[in-house]
Amino acid sequence: MRIDILSAVPALLDGPFSTSIVGRAQKAGIVEVHVHDIRKWSTNKHKKIDDTPYGGEAGMVMAIQPIVDAIAELQAERKYDEVIFLTPDGARLEQSVVNALSMTGNLLMLCGHYKGIDQRIRETVITREISIGDYVLSGGELAAAVLADAIVRLVPGAIGDGASALSDSFQDGLLAPPVYTRPAEWNGLKVPEVLLGGDHAKIECWKDEQALSRTMRLRPDLLGEDLGKNKDGEDV
Ligand code: ADE
Repeated sequence: MRIDILSAVPALLDGPFSTSIVGRAQKAGIVEVHVHDIRKWSTNKHKKIDDTPYGGEAGMVMAIQPIVDAIAELQAERKYDEVIFLTPDGARLEQSVVNALSMTGNLLMLCGHYKGIDQRIRETVITREISIGDYVLSGGELAAAVLADAIVRLVPGAIGDGASALSDSFQDGLLAPPVYTRPAEWNGLKVPEVLLGGDHAKIECWKDEQALSRTMRLRPDLLGEDLGKNKDGEDV
């Protein structure tokens, strides 16, 4: 898999892809992540990539030319399955979308900045618009890092134990059950007895029950009950 990211502030993405799962997947040749500075494509003599908005609003808008030229150049080199724009008014990211994107080959991500990008870019070259939540970041870079991380960890070979990703929260529409490691007792708190025995059928049954009760308590909306709950499962 290959992910190309177009950014006005590429330095923001120096860290997230060099270590941990994405870093290891790159070193193992499973994925490639390439971050590009949109300014490289600006034909403006000062390498400007933004301009004032029509209609007299405050702030700046990312202009068409550098972005569309960047996308055209990358698309001439390979075919992209999706050209994704990270934006707070996109579709809220869910695990099902991450799963689908992890099965593609080449993805191009565009990070917005300032007041956003000229609407005509969205109407012509963007194939999917994604938000990582109902809050506004300074730019799309951290959102692209979140999306790329969520995708890459699902690419076969990226995590040592492939089965581990399948038991993540949300994979089956439920939160994941609690997990424990040694010691079996800490400050009087014991690891549930069932996990200490070797009965795998019982353990699986316990995990399913825990996942369901946790989801009912903390995220009833995932079960179709849209009640507001705090972290203790109390109505708010
Ligand atoms: N850019 C700014 N805020 C964002 C968000 N919440 N999701 C995706 N891109 C963004």
